[in-house]
Amino acid sequence: MKARIIVNKRFTIGEIDRRIYGSFIEHLGRAVYEGLYEPTHPTADDMGFRTDVIELVKKLNVPIIRYPGGNFVSGYNWEDGTGDKSRRPKRMDLSWGAIETNQVGIDEFQEWAKRVNSEVMMAVNLGTRGMDEARNCVEYCNSTTDTEYANKRRENGFEEPFGIKVWCLGNEMDGPWQMGHKNADEYGHLAAETAKLMLRTDRSIKLVACGSTGYGRCGDWDYTMLDYTYPYVDYISMHTYFKNPENNAAKYFTQLDDANDYINGVVAICDAVKVKKKAKKTINISYDEWNVWYHSIEEDHANREADRWTSARHQLEDVYNFEDALMVGGMLMILQNHCDRVKMACLAQLVNVIAPIMTEKGGKAWVQTIFYPFFYASNFGNGKTLRTITESETYEVEGRKGIPYLVTSVVHNEEAGEVVVYALNRSLDENMELEVSLDEFEGYKLVEHVELYNDDLKAVNDKDTERVAPANVPIGDKVVLKKHSWNMLRYTVSV
Ligand code: AHR
Repeated sequence: MKARIIVNKRFTIGEIDRRIYGSFIEHLGRAVYEGLYEPTHPTADDMGFRTDVIELVKKLNVPIIRYPGGNFVSGYNWEDGTGDKSRRPKRMDLSWGAIETNQVGIDEFQEWAKRVNSEVMMAVNLGTRGMDEARNCVEYCNSTTDTEYANKRRENGFEEPFGIKVWCLGNEMDGPWQMGHKNADEYGHLAAETAKLMLRTDRSIKLVACGSTGYGRCGDWDYTMLDYTYPYVDYISMHTYFKNPENNAAKYFTQLDDANDYINGVVAICDAVKVKKKAKKTINISYDEWNVWYHSIEEDHANREADRWTSARHQLEDVYNFEDALMVGGMLMILQNHCDRVKMACLAQLVNVIAPIMTEKGGKAWVQTIFYPFFYASNFGNGKTLRTITESETYEVEGRKGIPYLVTSVVHNEEAGEVVVYALNRSLDENMELEVSLDEFEGYKLVEHVELYNDDLKAVNDKDTERVAPANVPIGDKVVLKKHSWNMLRYTVSV
């Protein structure tokens, strides 16, 4: 089959905020302990962080990392993770049924973030706690005043403030599974009052309000809670986990179209509240949890009782296959294409827990299939996204018609003098001959074609074998996208 992408240099969607290539670390399973932190590991540094993991995170080039949860944050006392480690309490983590040893907290995490060249996106507990603890946390992290919490930070060895600029007002507060779950009015009121105090503590911070959790839940919650929080926040959160339990790849890939519709819906709600309030400010999106998550769910349920109240349990350790990498690659295109309104996004999560990077205790660190599309988006997808006009055959699945086989995004990096085309062929059986028309770009030349392909959609990587890895396609007269493949085409342009 044939397909075509037409772009024009002058028709841009917007500048990509690099923070759309963010990620997420929660105190969950082996993300922190045995993931980032393992003082007895042969590669551990002076603070007990695994440097093999640090190197892989740096390769992924992640500009912002959300912390410390997730569901975990809704029962968390941030003070537990500060000061003398020998005096830190062990606590029951009621979100994941585990023991939290608190050997890592914000004192350590902000340092780890520096070591991987990232900034921290910090979440406060609006489940079991409230505005007082939240404003104290901002003071501890960011204040230079001669006051109790800023002084505690100094006593703990940090003269300089951490300078955390982005803060989440709780996590998934619309969900009944959340500790301290609230209705939209209760949350909206609490979030607005908490935001007021956090902003009075540090005027330079930006706040993220909890949007609804997932496409199916979106609507009333978002509108109502924004009605309360609009003056104080800059972002609304969105969360999505893709899944393919029916083993129907064609249908699985349509969840990308759902994510696209979901973004359009949330943008419409933000703008409706803007009009209602006659506001000048525009609320943008922080898509601060997204990924594939379903492979590990059954096993986690089966082991739930046996492993309860242990630390660093194997939880949410999805082993990603090739079709999951295609989903992650496709979702990054959706985010790039919405760069005018999606300003931050976090691949959930980063290490061991639904993660591109895996570790074994005392042993290796390796990368899963989903690492690769993220690596190429984050390292090469910088600049302005261009509007694309596409011509592609479509398919139908379970009565849903008109699904284009081609998913694409095109990024113009003026500084580097290149145009980068990302393209996913969703056809399960046909290759696609692709024509790219780069209008008003002079002297453009295709210099690199990276392809992620495996004949087996279920192929996985493990610590010893890499079945899914990118390959360079020789440049010829034609560009061919293999059936079910993800591709990056890099063109140099003279103007
Ligand atoms: O990322 C795993 C969990 O998914 C997070 O803790 C929660 O916010 C979401 O439901």
